[in-house]
Amino acid sequence: MRMSITFNTTTPDFLNPTTLSITPRRVVIVGAGVVGVATGHALLGLGHDVRFVDVNPSTVCRLLNEGKRATVKMPSPDGDSIIFICVPTPSDETGFDLTMLTTAVSSVGHSIARGTGSHIVAIRSTVAPGTTDRLVAGLLRSELDQSTAQVVVASTPEFLREASAAHDAVCPTITVIGSRSAYAREELRELFAPLGGEMRIFPDTTSSELVKIVHNCFNATKISFFNEMYKIAEVFGISGDAIGEVVVRSAEASTNPDYGTRGGYPFGGHCLPKDLDGLIGFAASAGVATPLLEAVRTVNESFTTVEAHA
Ligand SMILES: NC(=O)c1ccc[n+]([C@@H]2O[C@H](COP(=O)([O-])OP(=O)(O)OC[C@H]3O[C@@H](n4cnc5c(N)ncnc54)[C@H](O)[C@@H]3O)[C@@H](O)[C@H]2O)c1
Repeated sequence: MRMSITFNTTTPDFLNPTTLSITPRRVVIVGAGVVGVATGHALLGLGHDVRFVDVNPSTVCRLLNEGKRATVKMPSPDGDSIIFICVPTPSDETGFDLTMLTTAVSSVGHSIARGTGSHIVAIRSTVAPGTTDRLVAGLLRSELDQSTAQVVVASTPEFLREASAAHDAVCPTITVIGSRSAYAREELRELFAPLGGEMRIFPDTTSSELVKIVHNCFNATKISFFNEMYKIAEVFGISGDAIGEVVVRSAEASTNPDYGTRGGYPFGGHCLPKDLDGLIGFAASAGVATPLLEAVRTVNESFTTVEAHA
């Protein structure tokens, strides 16, 4: 059923399904935590048929009490569906612990295999690059061995902030989609486009998986950088916050989004190496450790000259 009225993606009322031009999809959210619930609510708001699956019975009870469709076990979908895997992926010494993801994907594969239709299994959990292509696709392939159901995999990482999860899912700043399947890319694009925000689509899952992790590590590095500067400012009894507040407005690395993003080249010129060395030396003489600045120097020195790459 296609509801056909134009919509405006710049105002929140576009979430009213009667003002949208969308084809309601059957969506299954596996893992009804922060990410799963926020994603499910955003898609419910667009008029999609959303069902939540969670291994925790009290979570399922809560969702049922809210009038949502929720089950502990994955249903066997008849007809096409889009299934989002939103289970935890804690880090461990080898990278990410994929125990819960593996269990969830196997159970999805088992259920799909007993039904019919074409399904997109989209990994929304944060995973190491290559996980969807290698692990997820392999697990599904073995579950669907004798089945007539069709499945393709995709990666749709989530960029919401936990503190404002519901708002961020409904008004994303960016949606990243990766899949080798043109069908999956188009279906997911159509699903998320009405929410607005920038959309980046990759012809593989590994790129979108890596974007999500690099996004978080970039944020983490910026926070640690200004913490290190905060300690240096403390030596003078001045506010590191005030310094940071000016630098994020003055530094090209901050004001120009593309600055420094082209990989493979060291920074050169006169001022960057000179002032980096100067601050490392000064901080050391003042008794302030600067492990991040030293790492910056080490990383930079690990690249050869710009001419070598030209
Ligand atoms: N929380 C965030 O702000 C945030 C933002 C972006 C990405 N992520 C990533 O999204 C993923 C999910 O994070 P979260 O914060 O929503 O986790 P969460 O702990 O809030 O929720 C996960 C849910 O999955 C359920 N679950 C576990 N195993 C299951 C299974 N086999 N089948 C069905 N349900 C299962 C749990 O019961 C729980 O309700 C993680 O990879 C996380 O790194 C989180």
